[in-house]
Amino acid sequence: MCATRLADPNDKETIMSEKKELNVAVIGYGLMGRIHTSGYKRANDFFDLKNRPVLKVICGRNEENARAFAENWGFESVETDWRKVIEREDVDAIDICTPNNSHAEIAIAAAKAGKMVLCEKPLSLNVAEGEQMVQAIEEAGVANTVWYNYRRIPAVTMAKQLIDEGRLGKIFHYRANFLQDWTISADLPQGGAGLWRLDAKEAGSGVTGDLLAHCIDTAIWLNGGIADVSAMTKTFITERTHTGSGNQEPVKIDDACSFMCHFENGSLGLFEATRYARGHKALYTFEINGERASIKWNLHDLNRLEYFDHRDDALVRGWHDIHVTESEMPYMDKWWIPGCGIGYEHSFLHQVADFLKSLEDGSPCRPTFRDALETQRVVEAVLKSAAERRWESV
Ligand SMILES: NC(=O)c1ccc[n+]([C@@H]2O[C@H](COP(=O)([O-])OP(=O)(O)OC[C@H]3O[C@@H](n4cnc5c(N)ncnc54)[C@H](O)[C@@H]3O)[C@@H](O)[C@H]2O)c1
Repeated sequence: MCATRLADPNDKETIMSEKKELNVAVIGYGLMGRIHTSGYKRANDFFDLKNRPVLKVICGRNEENARAFAENWGFESVETDWRKVIEREDVDAIDICTPNNSHAEIAIAAAKAGKMVLCEKPLSLNVAEGEQMVQAIEEAGVANTVWYNYRRIPAVTMAKQLIDEGRLGKIFHYRANFLQDWTISADLPQGGAGLWRLDAKEAGSGVTGDLLAHCIDTAIWLNGGIADVSAMTKTFITERTHTGSGNQEPVKIDDACSFMCHFENGSLGLFEATRYARGHKALYTFEINGERASIKWNLHDLNRLEYFDHRDDALVRGWHDIHVTESEMPYMDKWWIPGCGIGYEHSFLHQVADFLKSLEDGSPCRPTFRDALETQRVVEAVLKSAAERRWESV
């Protein structure tokens, strides 16, 4: 990390330059490449941080597209091979925004080169790969985080606060769904740009590793470890044209998955994810029921947290519809005024800010690779339970 000091102490650029520069390379310029970059660009505008990300390199396999992306978003340089990025001495942090089958190779090489690593979820294709990644990261001792960004939506962060304060009391039930409808057409091919999620070689699994991984990460964070699972999966469309070969090929991902589980704290969990729920685009919801109180949250109305407290006076007892925009609420002192909400992209900006903050005091930016490996263990147990039609310990 290099810092430059300019001559005039009153110059705005001088003020900015007193921050330590963190040279970031983003690998992959798709959906996540864009949203992370937006976070790097804006985090210092809203958060008081000692480090400032510099958009050093954008890496994509198509040079023309990468150049266009660099120009549009303000990256200093372009690479078409991530290996070259890792060799560069002017890069401090590697941000992996590529499909799941490339996470392990890039993360391990980056860690061995002493780079900080920020990796998109799911951590890996499977537990064995995830273990190698954790080993490489921990041996190198580099700062790391995995982008389970929903933890940093203020209403979700506030749910964690309410649970940790003991307001719910003993927890009985945890319920989560993640519903989409974009793969219902049998004409949709599998593999390649935009459709790699349908190809098990690139994605590892279907909705379990893609959507339920988010639900599992949030659940473990809010409610503790998962002990065992009983799952069912379904592939509704079993053959699709592969973009690469042009042939009809078997579909090996799960289109839908439901599982129940026991949490280590004695509560029961029920999870469902599908890409076949007509009408739902990205409906992530969870509800937690405790002995004293319950909470509910829903991604389509992400600034709200619903809260019911049985200890309220009976005359006014009922569900509170809390608009999480007051400055006392998580992250919201950095944003607009009470009543004015924020959006999906802010959860990524919050993760950038928390990562930069973690560099100041050396604390881990959760979820770390090790935390994300725990989610991977649950994902693998869910898939195994479904395949073998029996309960599976995590
Ligand atoms: N945290 C979240 O909420 C969230 C949301 C969506 C996706 N994701 C994860 O982010 C990752 C990327 O997903 P996405 O939706 O951005 O996908 P995407 O298809 O939009 O983008 C992937 C990008 O990676 C590029 N790429 C592929 N192989 C590459 C290589 N070897 N070198 C350089 N670039 C390469 C592709 O060209 C593409 O630009 C996945 O792991 C996915 O699971 C996370």
